[in-house]
Amino acid sequence: MDNLSIQFSCSTTITLTTAVVLFLSTIVLLKKYWKRRYWSSSSSNTTTSPPISIPLGTLGWPFIGETIEFISCAYSDRPESFMDKRRRVYGKVFKSHIFGSPTIVSTDAEVSRVVLQSDSKNFIPSYPRSLTELMGKSSILLVNGNLQRRVHGLIGSFFKSSHLKAQITLDMQKYVQKSMALWRDDQLIYIQDETKNIAFHVLVKALMTLDPGREMQSLKQNFQQFIAGLMSMPINIPGTQLYRSLQAIIQERMNKSSESSKAGSPKDVVDVLLNDASEQLTVDLISDNIIDLMIPGEDSVPVLMTLAVKYLSDCPRALHQLMVISETLRMGNIIVGVMRKAMRDVETRGYLIPKGWCVFTYFRSVHLDDNLYERSYQFCPWRWQEMEMGSNFTPFGGGQRLCPGLDLARLETTIFLHHFVTQFRWVAEDDHIVNFPTVRMKRRMPVRVKRRREGVP
Ligand code: HEM
Repeated sequence: MDNLSIQFSCSTTITLTTAVVLFLSTIVLLKKYWKRRYWSSSSSNTTTSPPISIPLGTLGWPFIGETIEFISCAYSDRPESFMDKRRRVYGKVFKSHIFGSPTIVSTDAEVSRVVLQSDSKNFIPSYPRSLTELMGKSSILLVNGNLQRRVHGLIGSFFKSSHLKAQITLDMQKYVQKSMALWRDDQLIYIQDETKNIAFHVLVKALMTLDPGREMQSLKQNFQQFIAGLMSMPINIPGTQLYRSLQAIIQERMNKSSESSKAGSPKDVVDVLLNDASEQLTVDLISDNIIDLMIPGEDSVPVLMTLAVKYLSDCPRALHQLMVISETLRMGNIIVGVMRKAMRDVETRGYLIPKGWCVFTYFRSVHLDDNLYERSYQFCPWRWQEMEMGSNFTPFGGGQRLCPGLDLARLETTIFLHHFVTQFRWVAEDDHIVNFPTVRMKRRMPVRVKRRREGVP
């Protein structure tokens, strides 16, 4: 029996050893094949004589590449540690393999600038497939060329108009006052929830002129369900209740505008897009893009306001002078970077970006680079008194896809902070920033508030 068991365990050990050896050799072979495949495909694409220089780096494991390490760093307090480690070895621009694609990671402001400035002949936006399947196919984030420029131009000039800025200022004041009027002394207020609520109302007014009421309430519910679905399971935008409600609103507006021919200046984004003469802007396209605009408006802007309150809570000196917003954008990195895909071999600053590869312009490493920003991890809004906002500062991206909502984001945040700081004193409870998958406060930024009284500092 003993012998048998020894034999059994021996043969099991041998079989296991063989399996392990086989498994490891397969992995090594696959890895070699992986490397050869990308090196050879890139060299075959290159026709010019100078030596190809795909940036240094490693593609990691077959299929998964370096995605797991990237994600585990992204969840930590220092998401940029993934980049830092590779920057030290390979330099500011290196190759990797994340989210299923060979990728050039740029933490170099100049290389990122060139990528962002390029048109769709060289680079187009690239998002993981799981995400693109969720977006409507006419989403501005997915369309390229003329159609992207058209929609971007229409939205951008409307958001810049003084008419809209005046309206946003009034609406912000109205909704901020309405929310703050309900706050009681010593009450615990969750800044992230409050700012989301305020920003949603202001945004929906700017997008489609809905005032608080039943329609706004039901749209809010649909939007919340939509966001919850987006986070928890793969959903398809055209199938959602939110999409159907928006289509109904837009269709009704379309019918009305054809009855009463277009008069006066547009009052909201739906008007701007409906009034466009080009026939490309269908009800489906407008619905897709209204959803695109609702997400950053409801997410990035409130997060900017919340982070500003967080940094102000930690820095009473800045609070007195109320100068925070650029520094919050630099440190908060609400959008860490953007992804593009090369449509042809592109050479920039001595690097080759092969056709079909992705480029990840990682703003966070630039914004937290000690060589560019002295004591970069320190919140110091005064640095902006002496600094220019050049290509080292890109919280809103750049080039053809520069965020059209940037003025809106700053305006809304300034108004919120003004009211918060002048009307309340507060004590922030413990909380911390979560960086992945989106930037937010773990406990929704709880603060205990006390209304300022006349003559009491
Ligand atoms: C703190 C707030 C915000 C931040 C940090 C932010 C950041 C960005 C960044 C980095 C991009 C570039 C994406 C790329 O190049 O692929 C972008 C694009 C965009 N943003 Fe924002 N954004 C903010 C607020 C807003 C708001 C309020 C709106 C509108 C309501 C908005 C609408 C858009 C749209 C439509 C695009 C796509 C432009 C295009 O592809 O042509 N954003 N944003």
